[in-house]
Amino acid sequence: MSTPVIEEAHPFIPYRQLSAEELTARIRRVKHELGERLLILGHHYQRDEVVELADLRGDSYRLSALAAADETCRAIVFCGVHFMAETADILANRPERLARRDGEFIPVVLPDLAAGCSMADMAEIDQVEDCWRQLSEVTSPEKIVPVTYVNSSAAIKAFCGRHGGIVCTSANADAALHWALARGEKVLFLPDQHLGRNTALRMGIPLDEMQVWDPHEPEWGGGDPDALGRARIVLWKGHCSVHQMFLPEHVDYFRRQYPGIKILVHPECMMEVVAQADEVGSTGKIIRLVKEAAPGTRWAVGTELHLVHRLKKEHPEQEIYFLSPVVCMCATMYRIDLPHLCWALENLASGRPVNVIRVDEAAAADALVALERMLELPGGG
Ligand code: 13P
Ligand code: SF4
Repeated sequence: MSTPVIEEAHPFIPYRQLSAEELTARIRRVKHELGERLLILGHHYQRDEVVELADLRGDSYRLSALAAADETCRAIVFCGVHFMAETADILANRPERLARRDGEFIPVVLPDLAAGCSMADMAEIDQVEDCWRQLSEVTSPEKIVPVTYVNSSAAIKAFCGRHGGIVCTSANADAALHWALARGEKVLFLPDQHLGRNTALRMGIPLDEMQVWDPHEPEWGGGDPDALGRARIVLWKGHCSVHQMFLPEHVDYFRRQYPGIKILVHPECMMEVVAQADEVGSTGKIIRLVKEAAPGTRWAVGTELHLVHRLKKEHPEQEIYFLSPVVCMCATMYRIDLPHLCWALENLASGRPVNVIRVDEAAAADALVALERMLELPGGG
């Protein structure tokens, strides 16, 4: 007879029973108690009730820069997704900062470990190493510069650091691509084909100088070795499952229905959507453009639902629409909710931090090289 398995209830479960008011009050209590020792960072795609409790909010670039710059806090709680918490850990615990704090390590907490990013998961380090080996047969490896979108694992960032490459965000992909092309003949852009293609097109690089690498194909990423040898940009075949839902017909619909409307999209959208947009930018730029526009401006915005809803609420003087008839929301960002945040904070306050994201030392050192190159780009983000 087999022994019955007794499922131990997760200590987080009782938090689910608490009301939003009670959770908010308890979160505020911990914030008050820890004061400046605690830094809660919130990405723009977070739910309203969570992002309102963040000390600072931003796009991926700003959040990385904030984690790199803060000298006061002794713990970071990241309301975002896994790669963001990894980046914060690498930057907040870099050797120079550790030395200044006499070796004190800053825990970076991700309130729910299931908050990943499906795009980041589309590039695994073994696949990237394999791609690099094959590309090196058609182009000398010193002439290839890897560029990774920050939406990638620490292992991929470390790969870029080791091979003379750089990290970018949606706020500085142009500057990163310029940086890379000044140092090599070919760029391997990971893992978002759309951000890579849209950025290269904007720089005047034609489509016939780009090739897509599909990591699931057994050889040459499903492409032709000669064409890969000639390509200036090799685009990893990854995408964002949220932004791929915005389609050119949605743009057509809004243009027909609302003459004069401005189409504002994130560069993770497909090229056919970006080509028709009036403005393209990171979440930070999207917010800035809406804020700066004249009252009465009409917008159809193509990015994650929570951000668009918040823009509508915060800018009643403008007419803001969501650029899709279907719900495009980031299900992993959404995992960070009040119960998880409260649970993570109360454990932190009691000296037993949970869900601490820690990148191993060797990977962190190499990834830091690629991140610092990004932070030094002219204009920052
Ligand atoms: P931003 O860099 O614009 O904040 O976007 C992050 C992201 O994951 C978009 O899907
Ligand atoms: Fe990843 Fe897309 Fe979610 Fe951004 S919106 S975190 S790219 S899945």
